[in-house]
Amino acid sequence: MPVEICHKLRYELGFWSCEWHQSFTGDHRYPAQATLLSKLGGTTREASLQGALFFINRRKSMKRMLSGIKPSGELTLGNYLGALRNFVNYQDEYEMVVFIANLHCITVYQDPKELRQYLKDAVALYLASGLDPQRSIIFLQSDVMEHAQLGFILACNSYLGEMNRMTQYKDKMAKGENALTVGFYTYPTLMAADILIYDPDYVPVGDDQKQHVEIARDIAERFNNRYSPTFKVPEPLIPKVGARIMSLSDPSKKMSKSDHQDKGVIYMLDEPSVIRKKVASAVTDSIGKVAFDPKEQPGIANLLQILASCKNTTIEKILPEVEQLNYGEFKKVVADAIIELLEPIQMKYRENVSTDLLEKTLLDGKLKAQAIASRKLKKVQHKVGLEIFKK
Ligand code: AMP
Ligand code: TRP
Repeated sequence: MPVEICHKLRYELGFWSCEWHQSFTGDHRYPAQATLLSKLGGTTREASLQGALFFINRRKSMKRMLSGIKPSGELTLGNYLGALRNFVNYQDEYEMVVFIANLHCITVYQDPKELRQYLKDAVALYLASGLDPQRSIIFLQSDVMEHAQLGFILACNSYLGEMNRMTQYKDKMAKGENALTVGFYTYPTLMAADILIYDPDYVPVGDDQKQHVEIARDIAERFNNRYSPTFKVPEPLIPKVGARIMSLSDPSKKMSKSDHQDKGVIYMLDEPSVIRKKVASAVTDSIGKVAFDPKEQPGIANLLQILASCKNTTIEKILPEVEQLNYGEFKKVVADAIIELLEPIQMKYRENVSTDLLEKTLLDGKLKAQAIASRKLKKVQHKVGLEIFKK
């Protein structure tokens, strides 16, 4: 193939270029692509050209979706139902960019050893849940330094008043926390950078993160007006079912991984017997009827929400199946549904965690993400006037 086509293709391919280059040079590290190429037949070079075109067309026709998870603890059932599972489903329709927000984790002190384990488990659980490195870009936030660089530029285009209005910050202040870090305060500007650097169309997040996506939109609009159109203004996408799974021991609180050792939190890696115990001790009420009434029966409403979400259905559809049960029987049905959902993921997790798949996935993801992020950052730096000579 003529060298100029080769260069053009590599340029157009953008983040696919690394994979394409590998296939062009005959180094098939990527099983799905290798299969595709062998199906296409012809010489390796022709096949790799066709493969490259396939990726270009696929990429051009898809909208991009981006999200991150902050594993400052073990991932919970709430993370799975509210976020991870949706990412997996979106892969068929969208170009997914999914990352582990490890910089966001350290806005609150983390024990380094524990953090490393949480991060590793999170990648393994991403993969075990069905995120596919062939179709999605999966990486570690700190591996793509452009995020932090853009984060600072965006912090310089955001105001103290905006940060002061953030619920997450206000909640901590209201609790009288006196050791809040500056990183925690500027958290939303880094998150805005995470998002805007990839020009996604949609950002799927749980309920609690909507405000952060909204501020990212405000910052994008401000930057676009101040300098010139630069960032796409993305839409938040909040799942209808599973958007807010509450704690089993206190249904007024979100099920959160920061509640270490709390029996109200189900972790994705909890053993079936532990899941049964936790569900059995979930807080209910003295009404004694399985009905969906979040005000009067928040505990039961939460269990119904969990059941519907695990079964991938709605509360209206599932209610007739369980409304005759007493609380004990109902809890058993809920526990069974959670176990049925999590067991296959746990098995895959155990297979993945001791292989080199995690490292390969992150390296591959980093290269793909960097290819997009570095182009955007260059553009931004130029617009802001940071560069003296255009590179
Ligand atoms: P976090 O655990 O706060 O980093 O959240 C990671 C993703 O999971 C975000 O999109 C959250 O909104 C979502 N998420 C976390 N906890 C829950 C929960 N209890 N219910 C629903 N979604 C959740
Ligand atoms: N702040 C998010 C959370 O706590 C994690 C996150 C960081 C994120 N950057 C993001 C989510 C960008 C979506 C898009 O869950």
